[in-house]
Amino acid sequence: MWNQRYSEAGFVYGTEPNDFLAATAERYLPPKGEILCLAEGEGRNAVFLARLGFRVTGVDSSAVGLEKAQGLAEQHGVDIRTVVADLGDFDLGVERWDGIVSIWCHTPSALRARLHRSAVAALRPGGVLLLESYTPKQLEYKTGGPPTAELMMTLAAVREELDGLEFVDAEEKLREVHEGKYHHGLSAVLQIVARKP
Ligand SMILES: C[S@@+](CC[C@H](N)C(=O)[O-])C[C@H]1O[C@@H](n2cnc3c(N)ncnc32)[C@H](O)[C@@H]1O
Repeated sequence: MWNQRYSEAGFVYGTEPNDFLAATAERYLPPKGEILCLAEGEGRNAVFLARLGFRVTGVDSSAVGLEKAQGLAEQHGVDIRTVVADLGDFDLGVERWDGIVSIWCHTPSALRARLHRSAVAALRPGGVLLLESYTPKQLEYKTGGPPTAELMMTLAAVREELDGLEFVDAEEKLREVHEGKYHHGLSAVLQIVARKP
């Protein structure tokens, strides 16, 4: 499904970074840190971070998406590392990353819970997780995102999954999302900034 979507002409979520990431990256991510971008897709967020001087690895199951990510990086004269892998198999490591970025990383809830627990272990002390996802309320808005509530996130569930992190900022809110042709309009989202002590 994702390889097919990313085979469309252009960048399906655009080439500009996600708004939440753009607003939080420099404020919260350790300067020049090593950052892992989960479900990175076509690379807009990884390239944005690389342009800010972060060392970035993007992981995604779509080879087509990550090939476009490398093309976008080249276009901007930056290097990013990309790994084609399913997040169910990908080893995040232990105390490996200064930051983990999760933007619209919607997976079945069992995988998500495992992934979030791994993310807590994979952050270095002082490392930061930045996350934006759709919440189940998004099904009322139909302006983008997965087709079922099971693939979306609530703050209550994610708080439990990220046990071990300190929540700096965390809220479910409505905001306008405009990213390429698939994210368009008022949307119900979850935003989290959390730090490993
Ligand atoms: C809505 S796109 C978001 C892409 C990117 N984060 C962005 O904001 O532009 C969701 C991405 O999740 C990836 N994805 C979904 N399930 C995955 C899994 N189990 N393992 C790896 N990637 C996955 C898809 O390939 C797709 O690129």
